[in-house]
Amino acid sequence: MSATPTKKVILVTGGSRGIGLAAVRFLLHGTKTIPACNVVSLSRSVPAELQALAKEHTSLAIVQGDVTTSKSNEEMRDEALKRWGRIDGLLLNAGVIDHMRCADLTAERLLHVLNVNTVSIAESVRVTLPELRKTNGSVVMVSSGAAVSNYASWAAYNASKAALNAYARTLANEEKDIACFSVRPGVVDTDMQGLIRATTEMPTEQQAKFLSMHKNGELLSPEKPAHVLAALAVQGTRKEPVGEDGTPLGATGTFCSWDDASLSAYQL
Ligand SMILES: NC(=O)c1ccc[n+]([C@@H]2O[C@H](COP(=O)([O-])OP(=O)(O)OC[C@H]3O[C@@H](n4cnc5c(N)ncnc54)[C@H](OP(=O)(O)O)[C@@H]3O)[C@@H](O)[C@H]2O)c1
Repeated sequence: MSATPTKKVILVTGGSRGIGLAAVRFLLHGTKTIPACNVVSLSRSVPAELQALAKEHTSLAIVQGDVTTSKSNEEMRDEALKRWGRIDGLLLNAGVIDHMRCADLTAERLLHVLNVNTVSIAESVRVTLPELRKTNGSVVMVSSGAAVSNYASWAAYNASKAALNAYARTLANEEKDIACFSVRPGVVDTDMQGLIRATTEMPTEQQAKFLSMHKNGELLSPEKPAHVLAALAVQGTRKEPVGEDGTPLGATGTFCSWDDASLSAYQL
């Protein structure tokens, strides 16, 4: 009789809605290509959908907290270790956008976006790294096309994602026992896109793209990028997948897009 394989343990930040919630569902249920996992979700709110998932699945642990605090990151780690004794992957997805022109951008608002989108990632990694080294774990960071864009009023967000990319490359270079991925999820139909359509800080001609994508039903469903992100957290290594130019993505932290041909095995 063969022993039941140990389920992998994946920590997800921002699992309460949008891309994060879709990823939590895939990880719990498993898919054709992702084996079902044990999951710890960290977010400030715990909406009914997430509570219902936790009732249905003993493989879901919910930590209510703020990614910008060491305490919440430690609670997320400790919950995984208490329940399952290991950590195999991080899906660092929590993020915020805050529109403000550079002329008015206060240090306080800039720091808040940097704290949630970038500094929290370094903290989640710091507190879990000893466990990730043991399992040759995978760290998946949700980046954005904004990392290389210049939309007016997006300075804080653009800077936070560019810094995330730099952090991912450096982590990949330092930590040879883990894989690091920085992934752009595309333009996705979540609350964040609602904020982009509603802001009065963007020039009309730049906002028009987002309004028209919404109007024409061109926004991605959260499931599409979420599947790639979840699959990389479970199965990505320093050897696989390999980018179109032959670069092993997990060994370099190279910025990639959810729909790159090199990620086709990870797509829905
Ligand atoms: N939607 C897009 O088109 C798009 C494009 C490029 C990149 N992204 C990136 O994709 C990721 C997910 O965004 P989304 O579109 O799914 O947005 P969303 O629906 O607004 O979800 C954001 C998630 O982040 C969590 N979060 C925010 N601040 C937090 C904090 N301080 N502590 C803990 N959790 C926090 C939220 O949970 P609580 O509010 O419950 O805390 C929520 O679960 C973000 O990193 C975003 O930058 C999105």
